[in-house]
Amino acid sequence: MPLPKAELHLHIEGTLEPELAFALAARNGIGLPWADTDALREAYRFADLQSFLDLYYELMAVLRTEQDFADLADAYLARAAAQGVRHAEIFFDPQAHLARGVGMGTVVEGLWRALGASETRHGVTTRLIMCFLRDESAASALETLDAARPYLDRITGVGLDSAEVGHPPAKFREVYEAAAALGLRRVAHAGEEGPPAYIAEALDVLGVERIDHGLRCVEDPELVARLVRDRVPLTLCPLSNVRLRTVESLGDHPLPAMLDAGLLCTVNSDDPAYFGGYAGDNFDAVREALGLGDDRLRELARNSFHAAFLDDDEALRARYLAEVEAYTF
Ligand code: ADE
Ligand code: ZN
Repeated sequence: MPLPKAELHLHIEGTLEPELAFALAARNGIGLPWADTDALREAYRFADLQSFLDLYYELMAVLRTEQDFADLADAYLARAAAQGVRHAEIFFDPQAHLARGVGMGTVVEGLWRALGASETRHGVTTRLIMCFLRDESAASALETLDAARPYLDRITGVGLDSAEVGHPPAKFREVYEAAAALGLRRVAHAGEEGPPAYIAEALDVLGVERIDHGLRCVEDPELVARLVRDRVPLTLCPLSNVRLRTVESLGDHPLPAMLDAGLLCTVNSDDPAYFGGYAGDNFDAVREALGLGDDRLRELARNSFHAAFLDDDEALRARYLAEVEAYTF
């Protein structure tokens, strides 16, 4: 039995496995520029975040109907459950779909078909977090929030993703203020490729409660001290960092030093279909490459539930935390 954990940094579009992509392409009569799944997998050699994003957005062309989004999410939840994920907070990128003529309702209702059945079908509780693409305009983010208004009962929070450098958090001050006024939780990618200053800005200007990635905080000791003091969760994605070359190899990942410093780190999969593994695979990989012991792994699992948006069900959080403490390796 795998260690129980919460997944807090997972882009649902990044769970699109080549086999499902080809199946959806066939179902929707869409041609793909790769001969087969092997040829597509060959393209998964990324130089940086942008080279990944180019392919990530291109392959989304196969997602057209509610059922496509339901199938995508259900496949993810089945895989996550098999790797010990008990709770998943799932990002989606509506602007990437709206731009292709796929409506907000198609995306949210489709995802909800799978998420609404997830606890019964897979034993995984879920939350949905709507991300704004930071390389699109602030006005576009505001329009996206507006388009989501009919679906806010299904959306727990907002996030910020896509190409980071040159798109600082402050660009999105207004939409984050509007999201807060609507009662939405706030997170943002920061310090993946962008500088540590973006992490501080996301906290100060956007009022985020968690930082997605946050890896580059290690370059700024004062920022680290702040993140430790304020118990700001960082949703790290070790296999993603290797594939996108933000760290040279898994053995060089600063996770052990970050835990030693007292940072509230969690381990997540980001875009598992592209980066070589789901949540449990990321746990296994850091255990092997970094020599993390059972206590450290339990700490990571415990952190994931502490950092989860389960404030509306503290009894559930307590139950998950008890599962972590009772786990025998
Ligand atoms: N969108 C999907 N994956 C992402 C990542 N790792 N960073 C920024 N935006 C993303
Ligand atoms: Zn991400």
